[in-house]
Amino acid sequence: MTIGGARLSRRALLGAGAAFGALAVLSPTRTGQARAPAPFVPTKTLTLKSGDAELKLLGPDKPATRILAYDGTPFQTLRLPRGTRLQATYVNGLDEGSSLHFHGIRMPNEYDGVPPLTQPLVEPGGRFVHLLPLDDPGTFFFHPHCDETGQAGRGLVGVLIVEDERDPKFDADEILCLKDWRLAENGGFLPLTEPDGASKAGTFGATRTVNGKPTVELSAAPGADVRLRVLNVDATRIMDIGVEGAEAWLIAVDGHALKPVRLDDLPDGIWRMGPAQRIDLHVRMPADGKRVSVGDYRAADIYHFATLVPSGKPKRKPRRGPLALPAAELPFPDLEAAEFHSFTLQQATDEAVKNLGLPPDDPLAKALVASFCVGAATYWSIGQTSWAAGDRLGLPPPLAAMKEGRSYRIEIKNETRFPHPIHLHGHAFAVLGSSKGRLPRHFADTVLVQPGEAVEIGFVAVSGDWVFHCHILEHMETGMMGWFRVV
Ligand code: C2O
Ligand code: CU
Repeated sequence: MTIGGARLSRRALLGAGAAFGALAVLSPTRTGQARAPAPFVPTKTLTLKSGDAELKLLGPDKPATRILAYDGTPFQTLRLPRGTRLQATYVNGLDEGSSLHFHGIRMPNEYDGVPPLTQPLVEPGGRFVHLLPLDDPGTFFFHPHCDETGQAGRGLVGVLIVEDERDPKFDADEILCLKDWRLAENGGFLPLTEPDGASKAGTFGATRTVNGKPTVELSAAPGADVRLRVLNVDATRIMDIGVEGAEAWLIAVDGHALKPVRLDDLPDGIWRMGPAQRIDLHVRMPADGKRVSVGDYRAADIYHFATLVPSGKPKRKPRRGPLALPAAELPFPDLEAAEFHSFTLQQATDEAVKNLGLPPDDPLAKALVASFCVGAATYWSIGQTSWAAGDRLGLPPPLAAMKEGRSYRIEIKNETRFPHPIHLHGHAFAVLGSSKGRLPRHFADTVLVQPGEAVEIGFVAVSGDWVFHCHILEHMETGMMGWFRVV
C-alpha cells in the first residue's frame, strides 16, 4: 500500500520505538535493552475483546439480534476508582480492522486509539495495549474508532465509570445507556448508513432502547437520593432529557461536576444531548410515593425510558437541596492570553474515492478507504477541510498547530441546517458561551452546536495529535473530522 502506507508504518514505528529508542541512547542497560521510559505502574489490568453477542431487541417472542459487544456483554461496564492506573488490552475479535478509544479520558496521545493518526489499525486477531491514568472521576464510555457506524452502530460500546470516594452518598447510582437500533423484522440489521441520512441528519434507528431494553424500572424509597448517569451512545439521535414527578438537578456533564442546576431552571426544563454526550442527574424521590419518569422529550412522541418506582420505607430524614459533586479539577484556560481560532461546519461535496482516481467499486479503492477509517463519500467539512479528502487519500493537514500548555479559545460556527455534537479528544474543555446564549458554563468533551449557532470553547493544550470531530458517526466518517497538532 503506497498511499498513506509510508506514513502509516513510519507512525507505527515512531509510536512503538521512538521513546524507547531515545532513552536507549541516553541510558543503555547492560544487555543493550532500553528501559521503559515512563513509570506507569498498572493498578488494574484487564482485556476487552470485541465480538458477537445476542440481544432480544425486537421483543421476547421475536428473533434475537446478533450485536457486537466487548467480552460478549452488551454495554460492558467498568467501575473503577479514581486514581486507577489502567492497563487495558484491546483484542480485536471482529473480522475487520478496529481500535479502542476511551472517550473523554485525558491520557497520553499514543493510547488514544485513533488509526491512522495515533496508532495503526488493529487487524482482526490483533491487540493493542492502552495505559490510562484515570484521574478524572465521572461517567465515560469507550468505543471503536474505525468503521464506527458499522461497529458502534451494531452495539460495540462500553461504559466506564470512574468513581470518586469523595462523592456525596446517594441511595442509588444507576446507569441509563441510550441507543437505537436499525432492525429488520428477522432481527438482522438494516443498512446502518444511507446516503440520504449521512448527508443530512443521520440514518436513524426505529427501535429505541435503554440498557438494551425498551424501558427500565428502578425502585427507590420515597425521599431517596438517586444518581442517574444518562449516556447517549446512539450514532445519530439528539435527545432532550427531562424528569417528571420529582425534583431533579443536573450535577455533571460529560463526567465533570458542575454547580447543580435545577432541570426546571434550564430552557424548556431539559438538557439537550447529542451522540456521545453524558449527564449525571440527581433525582430526589418524592415523599408522597408517586412514580417518577425520565424521558426524551425531543419528539412529540415522548420516549419515557425509565420509571423510578417508590418502594420500601420512606427515608427518615429526606435531605434538602441538591447533592453537589466535588468540583472538577481541570485546567481552566487563561482567556486573556488565549489564542483564538474559528472553524466553520459546512456541507462538502467531493468524494474521497474520486480523489484516488479509481472507480468506487474497485477493490483497491475499497481497501484504501477502509484503511483510513472513512466512508466512501464526503458530505461534510470542518474548518474548510474534510478528513481523508484532498488530492490524495491521506490525512488532511492539521486544523491548527498549537503549543503545549498554551490556552486556546475555539469558536465553532455551524453553517449547516443540522445540529452537530463536536468532540475534542484528549482534553476537557470549558464551554464558554453560545451565540444563542442557552448554555451554562461547564466542562465537557463534546458540545452540541445548533444550526446557525456559534459556540465558543476554551482549553489548555496537551501535547499530541488530537482529532476534533462531529460525533454523529456518519458525519465524522464523511468528512466532519479534523485534528490539532500540539507540540
Ligand atoms: Cu467518542 Cu473520536 O470519539
Ligand atoms: Cu454532525
